[in-house]
Amino acid sequence: AVTVEQHQATATPLVVAHRGASDEEAEHTLRAYRKAFAHGADGVECDVRLTADHHLVCVHDRRVERTSNGAGVVSTLELARLEELDWASWKTRPEDLEAPDSDPERARLLTLRRLLATIVEEGGEPIVLVETKHPTRHGDDVEKTLVQVLRSFDLDRGDRPGRPRVRVMSFSARALQRVHKLSPQVPLVHLVSAKGPSLPLDGTLPKGVGVVGLDIALVRRKPKLVRKFRKHGHGVFVWTVDETADLDLCRELGVDVVITNRPRRAIDRFAAG
Ligand code: G3P
Ligand code: CA
Repeated sequence: AVTVEQHQATATPLVVAHRGASDEEAEHTLRAYRKAFAHGADGVECDVRLTADHHLVCVHDRRVERTSNGAGVVSTLELARLEELDWASWKTRPEDLEAPDSDPERARLLTLRRLLATIVEEGGEPIVLVETKHPTRHGDDVEKTLVQVLRSFDLDRGDRPGRPRVRVMSFSARALQRVHKLSPQVPLVHLVSAKGPSLPLDGTLPKGVGVVGLDIALVRRKPKLVRKFRKHGHGVFVWTVDETADLDLCRELGVDVVITNRPRRAIDRFAAG
């Protein structure tokens, strides 16, 4: 079988929806994820943060203001408080909708557990990229909790037929090392930002890490990086690939996975050949 990391050899890049179909629905809501799969995405990406009472929730920012109607820092708030907030109206206000929307999932906070439970229940082998945002106040509790959650869904033993294909991603080599030590079979992705690469960019990756996750801004500037990492036997994922020209560039370069806010556009573009 072709693995996620060898996909480029066979066809176009696989499409992973960044925070769900976040161009259409509020990011990190179950609806955004369901929509991505309905469009035919190969997988989804989510960010996770630890609450004050040690639950992993799917939230990108350190604070809740941008994507909810609450205030404060995620890691200082308890799950019950976060669950009370509205996580969708910042994107689509109920009064702007053509028809009343009574879907209880519309504005609900998503926990990693609920996301994984939904994906496992749907079946198949979707790619699930979980990015740890590791607030330092928690020490290594983020990674410990993440491994426990993956284990509870039997998703910590690498790729297996009929099961979601989970990868843990981080910009922090230390965070990835911790995951590797706790659970050596979980595939890891080292993220690299164009703003300040956290790696030497010579094509090598830290021990136990099989994939590099490159910022599209870096790929535009240094497209040869893709070949360099491939030559060392590593998979190459690129984020966040929303523009048509960037999708074409990733296809030309033989990128394995594009992570995009616009899964429908990416799927249509790649299908058009
Ligand atoms: O997929 C990687 C990408 O999500 C990293 O950046 O800030 O969107 O989490 P960010
Ligand atoms: Ca992310």
